[in-house]
Amino acid sequence: MSDTSKTATLTIDGETYDLPIYSPTAGPDVIDIRKLYGSAGVFTYDPGFTSTAACDSTITFIDGGKGELLHRGYPIDQLASKSHYLEVCYLLLYGELPSAKELEHFETTITNHTMIHEQMHNFFRGFRRDAHPMATMVGVVGAMSAFYHDSTDISDERQREIASHRLIAKMPTIAAMAYKYSIGQPFVYPRNDLDYAANFLHMCFAVPAEEYVVNPIMARAMDRIFTLHADHEQNASTSTVRLASSSGANPFACIAAGIACLWGPAHGGANQACLEMLKEIGTPDRIPEYIARAKDKDDPFRLMGFGHRVYKNFDPRATVMKQSADEILDMLGVEDNPVLATAKELERAALADPYFAEKKLFPNVDFYSGIILEAMGFPTSMFTPIFALSRTVGWISQWKEQLADPQMKIGRPRQLYQGPTERDYVDIEKR
Ligand code: SDX
Repeated sequence: MSDTSKTATLTIDGETYDLPIYSPTAGPDVIDIRKLYGSAGVFTYDPGFTSTAACDSTITFIDGGKGELLHRGYPIDQLASKSHYLEVCYLLLYGELPSAKELEHFETTITNHTMIHEQMHNFFRGFRRDAHPMATMVGVVGAMSAFYHDSTDISDERQREIASHRLIAKMPTIAAMAYKYSIGQPFVYPRNDLDYAANFLHMCFAVPAEEYVVNPIMARAMDRIFTLHADHEQNASTSTVRLASSSGANPFACIAAGIACLWGPAHGGANQACLEMLKEIGTPDRIPEYIARAKDKDDPFRLMGFGHRVYKNFDPRATVMKQSADEILDMLGVEDNPVLATAKELERAALADPYFAEKKLFPNVDFYSGIILEAMGFPTSMFTPIFALSRTVGWISQWKEQLADPQMKIGRPRQLYQGPTERDYVDIEKR
């Protein structure tokens, strides 16, 4: 823990309590309240954890005011343009950019773990064909703990590493199988001669009836989307993984919990919800109606892909995604994409509106991603599975970091109880 020379003084009913303040390498100071309940008999109250640091971490830093995102200190726009997903995976997992030799060994390791246990193919067949691929992924990833017993002992560092590699390697295979199953096509096995992103595209779009050659432009775009979604500090699904892991649950169960949390439309499900919203809006002339709805307190409608708990400026991932949308649609020969035109006009209109400016609501990572994914041939139901696939390395890196933290304890928040105080049972005859 950093120096504790600073303290915060709290006064309650005339009693004063000194609470240590820690200064991070970047971001706001934190007040250590761990001894508060023991010394003052009070809890802090922070539903939604708007002002709470739940852990120490050295992995990802976000400056919401500046719209800055760093992975182990490297800005996301540099990683998106100069690195590639498996190198970013290595960086997130091990803390430093790999040497050429380290990268080659890591990529070979991941490649050699991409197949799943053949028995798991039957597991998919228990789902309805029209099951949402996220439902299938939650189930299949959770079931991995029933197939890979030799990497579930979290006290064994080597087993933790094997589980990390298996999850990063097998998520594309599982996501592609969930997609194939949902469209009634046969599963396509991973291929060791393809890189990570190309392999995923091949497993999604190849059919046994003919050869499928992966478009290198699509593979590069896919890889960049994976990179942009890799990790994001203590977001809801990462916090879910950390909380599940704090009980000692096995890594596959923890990641399945993260997938379940990511599915929500306020979180990773927003990419699907955003494209559906853009299509519902249809044409730019209907944008004012939807802006008005988003501002109407009595209307639960929100602009999907807009706003963020941390970013009060542009989400840097959205900026890269927007640039990529133009490039990729051009490269894919998609002329005049009406949905992209609507998205750009919606962004312009919203950012020009005082409501969004005052509340510092900007496009987030989910605003443009769906446009690109649809142009690549994915149905909206595959958008969040692709987010889950990409975020697995972030979940796993945070999971590993927490297990190595000597301060780690089971997560057990308290509450502000507002229910009935003690009362006696009333027999039914007297009610
Ligand atoms: C992700 O945490 C992460 O890092 C997540 C993520 C990651 O990589 O892991 O970045 C991925 O989940 C991105 C966010 C995707 N979700 C959406 O796009 C759904 C739409 N956005 C929102 O529902 C909302 O902005 C959240 C959930 C993202 C953030 O919600 P907060 O921080 O709890 O903010 P809030 O709901 O308290 O909103 C503050 C104000 C409110 O108005 P008031 O009550 O103060 O008058 O802003 C308004 C909200 O009504 N508001 C919106 C809005 N988002 C917030 N109004 C209209 N449209 C929106 N999208």
